[in-house]
Amino acid sequence: MDLSQDVLRKDERAIISLRSLYRQFGYTEYRMSRFEEYGLYSDNKAFLSSGDIITFTGTNGKLMALRPDVTLSIVKNIKDDGSTKKLYYSENIYRPDGHEFKEQMQVGLECIGNIGLDLMCEVLLLAQRSLGLLGESTRLDVSHMGFLGGLLQQGELTHEQRLKLLLRIGEKNIPELGALCSEYRQSDGFRNRITALASLCGPFDAVIAQLCDISVNNETGTALQELKEIREALRQRDTRHELNLDFSIVNDLRYYSGIIFQGFIEGISSKVLSGGRYDELLRKFGKRSGAVGFAVYLDLLDRFTPQDKLINIALPKGRLGEKAYAVFGESGYECPGIREESRRLVFENLNAGVGYFWVKPSDVAIYVQSGVADIGVVGKDILLENSTDVYELLDLGLGKCRMCVAAEKGFTDDPERTLRVATKFPGVALDHFEKAGREIDIIKLNGSIELAPLLGLSDVIVDIVETGGTLRENDLEVIETIADISARLVSNKVSYKFNRAKISELCINISETLKNR
Ligand code: PRP
Repeated sequence: MDLSQDVLRKDERAIISLRSLYRQFGYTEYRMSRFEEYGLYSDNKAFLSSGDIITFTGTNGKLMALRPDVTLSIVKNIKDDGSTKKLYYSENIYRPDGHEFKEQMQVGLECIGNIGLDLMCEVLLLAQRSLGLLGESTRLDVSHMGFLGGLLQQGELTHEQRLKLLLRIGEKNIPELGALCSEYRQSDGFRNRITALASLCGPFDAVIAQLCDISVNNETGTALQELKEIREALRQRDTRHELNLDFSIVNDLRYYSGIIFQGFIEGISSKVLSGGRYDELLRKFGKRSGAVGFAVYLDLLDRFTPQDKLINIALPKGRLGEKAYAVFGESGYECPGIREESRRLVFENLNAGVGYFWVKPSDVAIYVQSGVADIGVVGKDILLENSTDVYELLDLGLGKCRMCVAAEKGFTDDPERTLRVATKFPGVALDHFEKAGREIDIIKLNGSIELAPLLGLSDVIVDIVETGGTLRENDLEVIETIADISARLVSNKVSYKFNRAKISELCINISETLKNR
């Protein structure tokens, strides 16, 4: 039967072309059941992108799961007999996406055994060719957990502190990386290196000298050497091969120790390919082999939207947005008409290359993460409450306030009782009291939080304090500050990669304006 290309859906065509690519390179198909024992995932939660898993009880009474990941099943079943296995798969996985679980199609490959330079390069080339089969404008960015791990070792940090720094590196959050280094009493040298590494992004040849400057010890030196060898070997195989480095790609040090990478297609707002060297996972299963692989997220192909040339900026409606727009305007990104009284929500200035939309403050991060806006201005309170996958590029220093725990004057906490906490920020409150080891009940309110303790609805509140006026006038006082809050300039991670020159220039111009105010 002739299955002409137009009979097939886009994802089906993609599966066929990827399979055929992997077969050409000697990879064989690995098939598996969509059910696994839940224990496989509960023992390796940190390896998964989410701890939420669909479970059910099997006929033998065992707790089973609908597979959220393919790699763990392969690693569990593979024979550690010294031979190198080159496998590919196309399987559905079951993961939360937004507020619901979704069945998602993943195609990927795994190479398990003795992984030398040749195989490492082959996997990187296949990752790049996979992207080329799926989109027109694509890029593959590489990072190295050995380099990140080596640099973090210099700091004599606790596991918890390392994780926090890795999170901030993943956000390219230079202001907070600096603040954490001071809090952890790190040297200026350490802070400079870690912030330089988080900002580092670009073609290998353009950034390698900077990376050499950051290298400090054997671990970083070995990682650097490996990157150089890979670059050289890739160049010999394919002279057009472009290797980008971006150390804001981070992963869990307990599973990944070497090269990690992500792939992007311009017009799709999140990574479409993710992979790396995961020898540490095999050690957890008592296996000696090395391993490298990647997965391609085919469902994302449907989310492609052609890109316009403007940098689209989401501003929060209200006073903070007005102040933020003033800074953008002073920095050369004016948009005539934006200040006129009207109900219009979208404004463009083709000459300045920017478009603006006014959105509800709590929605800014959603517009940016989804890529509808390339960048946006959002309060740190909202970023703390909703974990969003965006770069946090600048602290604008606007809308400064504090996230606090407050109560009626003279309140004393009775540790025998569960503490009742009223708040608009349940995530922040839960996280704060969990760290303090205090059991709480959350009362989620939408405004006028200060009323709750006054009327006996709660013992304390977690809320924003700006001037302190509302607390004072209601006989309440701050018990504890959880975090300093101000407006941040955030960027969609993929937009940043494809429009780095424009977004970096905008950040520099905005920083200059703020400095000169
Ligand atoms: C915020 C916050 C406090 C108040 C603090 O409320 O929730 O209530 O501002 O500001 P102050 O320290 O300067 O007094 P918002 O004005 O957003 O209204 P809301 O009560 O409806 O949330």
